[in-house]
Formats: sequence, structure tokens, C-alpha cells
Amino acid sequence: MLYKQIGQSDLKASVVALGTWAIGGGSWWGQNDDKESIKTIQATISQGVNLIDTAPVYGFGHSEEVVGKAIKDRRSQVLISTKCGLRWTDQKGSYYFSRDGKDVYKNISKQGIKNDVEMSLKRLETDYIDIYFTHWQSVEPFLIPVSETMEALVELKKEGKIRAIGASNVTGEQIEEYVKYGQLDIIQEKYSIIDRRTEKELLPLAKKHHITFQAYSPLEQGLLTGKMTKDYRPEAGSARSGKKWYEPQNLAKVVDMLAGWQDLCKKYECTPTHLVIAWLIAQGENVNVLCGARKIEQLEDNIKGADIILATEDVQRMRESVLAL
Ligand SMILES: NC(=O)c1ccc[n+]([C@@H]2O[C@H](COP(=O)([O-])OP(=O)(O)OC[C@H]3O[C@@H](n4cnc5c(N)ncnc54)[C@H](OP(=O)(O)O)[C@@H]3O)[C@@H](O)[C@H]2O)c1
Repeated sequence: MLYKQIGQSDLKASVVALGTWAIGGGSWWGQNDDKESIKTIQATISQGVNLIDTAPVYGFGHSEEVVGKAIKDRRSQVLISTKCGLRWTDQKGSYYFSRDGKDVYKNISKQGIKNDVEMSLKRLETDYIDIYFTHWQSVEPFLIPVSETMEALVELKKEGKIRAIGASNVTGEQIEEYVKYGQLDIIQEKYSIIDRRTEKELLPLAKKHHITFQAYSPLEQGLLTGKMTKDYRPEAGSARSGKKWYEPQNLAKVVDMLAGWQDLCKKYECTPTHLVIAWLIAQGENVNVLCGARKIEQLEDNIKGADIILATEDVQRMRESVLAL
């Protein structure tokens, strides 16, 4: 397993991290067996994956609680990232969405962040968070300047409650604002071989500012593993429903594209899952991959992608086959 420094911090994280959105369950992902989730997280750590990502909103606190239980007796072996700014405990902020009976507001005010961090520390049963992300950025009508958000995060870092600052779902302009007011070490953005919107601005900007770029939903929620057939239809209201690549005509194209990589799978003795993870890692020295998994087998499978170094012509060939979709 390859380990890379997170931005300019003193943290070193495995190039593949474990995401625990699905482990939170709820209507996005359905019921889980928490004992299996805990075993998956613990196996992850013993396999050398030392970064576990969660967020308060994943299962409305449940994902953080499960992560907390899993890492309690091995806290020093692992880096935990969690997030702030999506709040459902009061109605202060810009309304974002409702789910599972909760109304969620975007609020990355200083006060909001200070409240969020205490709740996360409690749920995670720890006294520090390694990487603390702003989950979604501020919008009208409750628009908070980045200077205020960063002031809160820098204070938390000084107090030792967090070790590195991250931002998620940002624009280029927001990155420029963040770095004006402190040290931004990592951004977490949607990036897969079939969704490369971030390549134009965010990827080069992260590189310029020595910021780690962490790619989320790298498997397009399982689609790029090749496990979905052309007749797969997401359950209404689930995490996959309404997503562009799960529309029947797009899904069929992706299934065919993956089938067209059989020669690559043979060459590297691997599966499409490994190819798409290796492809992302090949996109830059500062790129890390955040894969969700709730079963040990999935996690073990995803790790293998980190061991493959694709030849430059194969990286290009994969990009071209996506362009032809
Ligand atoms: N910052 C943000 O706004 C944001 C947004 C989304 C995600 N994230 C983070 O990024 C993480 C990853 O993203 P994601 O969960 O959306 O998508 P993902 O990593 O692309 O896909 C995860 C899902 O794919 C399936 N899967 C994973 N490995 C597999 C394998 N080897 N074989 C077959 N199926 C496999 C599993 O589905 P099943 O469980 O159904 O089998 C798993 O839950 C999240 O957990 C979260 O931590 C952040």
C-alpha cells in the first residue's frame, strides 16, 4: 500500500481510503448489520488502509457511531476524517434537503462548526479528529464568508481538536478563499473515470496549492465494478436513484465499456474495479481514492487497485473509451 502526505500536514494516508456513507444505512443505503460494518472497518485497518471517512449526516450520526466503536481500541493506528456544516438539530442555515424525517440545513458558521465538532467527537468516542472537512459550501440566504469558516477551523486546530483542514464540494474560487485564511490540506470531490468535471479547474488548482485531491464515489456507487447488469434499476429514493449514469441508456453504455476492457483485465490480471481505481491514482501525485465498502471482501478487492501501475498508453486508452460513450 502506498502512503502519501495529506497536503502540507504531517499526516500520511493510504492512497485508498474507506468511506462509510453506506455504513450509515438509512433510506440512502438501507439497513446494515453493524457488527459486519465494524468488522469491515477493523479489517480495513489491519490491511493497511489507515484513513476512514465519515460524516454526521451519514445515517444521521449512525456512521460516526459505528466508526467510533470500530476504532476505539486502535485509535492511534488510524486517521479519521469527518465533516461539518450539514445540520439537522436546528433550523438555522440554508435549507438543503429532507430525509428520514430530518430537515437538513447548510451552516458553516463559526458557531455551527463549534457545535458540530463536539457532537462528532462524542459520537466517534475520541478527543481529536485527524481531518475535518466542510461538507458542502455556504449558499444564500445563510451565506457565511470563508474567512469566518476558516477562523473556526484554525482555532480548532490550535486547540488540538482537529489536525488538518479539508473542504468538500468546492469551487475554484472557494479554494482560493480558503488558502487566503489558513492551511487547506485536502479537498474531497466527486471524481470517477466517467465523471471528470473536476479535472478542468479543481485538480490543477489543488496541485498548485499542494492540496491533496481525494476522489469520492470513484466506483460510481458500484457501477464501475461491473456488478450491475443492463437491467439494474436503483430503488426509488436510494443513493443511486436519479443519478445520470444509472439511467437505462447510460447504464447500458457503461456495462459495454467495461466489457471492452477484457484485454486490459487480462494484461494486469485484474478486474474493472482495479482498473478504475488505478486509473484515478494515475491522474496525479496528489490524488487519493475514497471507496465506499460495507463488506470485507469489497474492501479487500478495492485495495488491489492501488497495487496496479497502468502504462501511460492504457491510461489514455481508458480515457478514450469513456470519451466515446
Ligand atoms: N463529500 C461528499 O459530499 C461525499 C459524497 C459522496 C460520498 N462521499 C464519501 O465517499 C465515499 C465513497 O463514495 P460512495 O460510497 O458514494 O461511492 P463508491 O465508493 O463509488 O461506491 C461504494 C459502493 O460500491 C459498492 N462496492 C464497493 N466496492 C465494491 C467491490 N469491490 N465490488 C462490488 N461492489 C463494490 C458498494 O455497494 P453495496 O454496498 O451496495 O454493495 C459500496 O457501498 C463515501 O462512503 C463517503 O465517505 C463524500
